[in-house]
Amino acid sequence: MPVILITGASSGIGAALARFYAAPGTDLVLTARDADRLEAVAAACRGTGAGVRTHRVDVRARGPVGDWLRSLDGETPLDLVIVNAAVNGGHPEGGLETEATAFETADINLGGALNVLLPVVTLMSGRGRGQIALVSSLAAYAPLPDAPAYSGAKAALLAHGLALRAKLKPLGVRLSVVTPGYVKTPMGGVIKGWRPLEMSADEAARRIARGLAHDRDVIAFPWLLAALARGALLVPESVRGLALYGFRFRNRPRR
Ligand SMILES: NC(=O)c1ccc[n+]([C@@H]2O[C@H](COP(=O)([O-])OP(=O)(O)OC[C@H]3O[C@@H](n4cnc5c(N)ncnc54)[C@H](OP(=O)(O)O)[C@@H]3O)[C@@H](O)[C@H]2O)c1
Repeated sequence: MPVILITGASSGIGAALARFYAAPGTDLVLTARDADRLEAVAAACRGTGAGVRTHRVDVRARGPVGDWLRSLDGETPLDLVIVNAAVNGGHPEGGLETEATAFETADINLGGALNVLLPVVTLMSGRGRGQIALVSSLAAYAPLPDAPAYSGAKAALLAHGLALRAKLKPLGVRLSVVTPGYVKTPMGGVIKGWRPLEMSADEAARRIARGLAHDRDVIAFPWLLAALARGALLVPESVRGLALYGFRFRNRPRR
């Protein structure tokens, strides 16, 4: 029975991935901080026949997260881990991101992701089997002036993930980096700005699962926005600035 761990499973893309993989014979481990939202997703997944365990944890808690992962993997070795939990950062009025917001965003989106990724890398490489998805963003290629810490954390995940992928392949572990464009989720919903080619979380989950099944290095979508974002650092700053002007946004914090 495949064992699949998803962080940030209480909402948005993580919840959609949980529903996508929920089927008889699948053992899901869903984690986030909010108990009610997490249990609602777990109940839906049990309803379609999956075995589901939930665990409330803040991904910033490095020690407890590592201890929990080692104990979990000792009981039921993890086949697929989707490192997905994140927050937006930004500024409610589109101004300069505060220090506090920037540190919180970096701590969750980069520090928190590594707190999950690195113990899992050790466990999977030790047994020579497993698959990891790191959820980054198209902002990793085209840094958004309204979300500097978010863009920076996502770029770091992209680079870290692709570097690790090359090392892990001969050890029997597959790693993909996911770089979505705009997806309709609670995180996306608080952004006031242009969101071209936005897709549903269920569609994003289908694309991520398809990419993972084909062991893609980067799972980037939608393709047109991905192609433009990937070219962003190749053009002069003046051109990039004009293009990114259309993507300015204000972020009303959700919680
Ligand atoms: N939506 C988009 O347009 C978009 C575009 C590109 C990339 N992405 C990426 O896709 C991923 C999912 O985003 P989403 O849109 O689905 O956002 P979302 O609906 O806000 O979900 C974020 C998830 O992360 C969890 N989370 C946040 N902080 C956490 C913490 N400190 N510890 C543990 N869990 C935490 C949240 O649960 P709790 O609050 O219950 O802890 C929630 O389950 C993120 O990595 C995001 O950067 C999203």
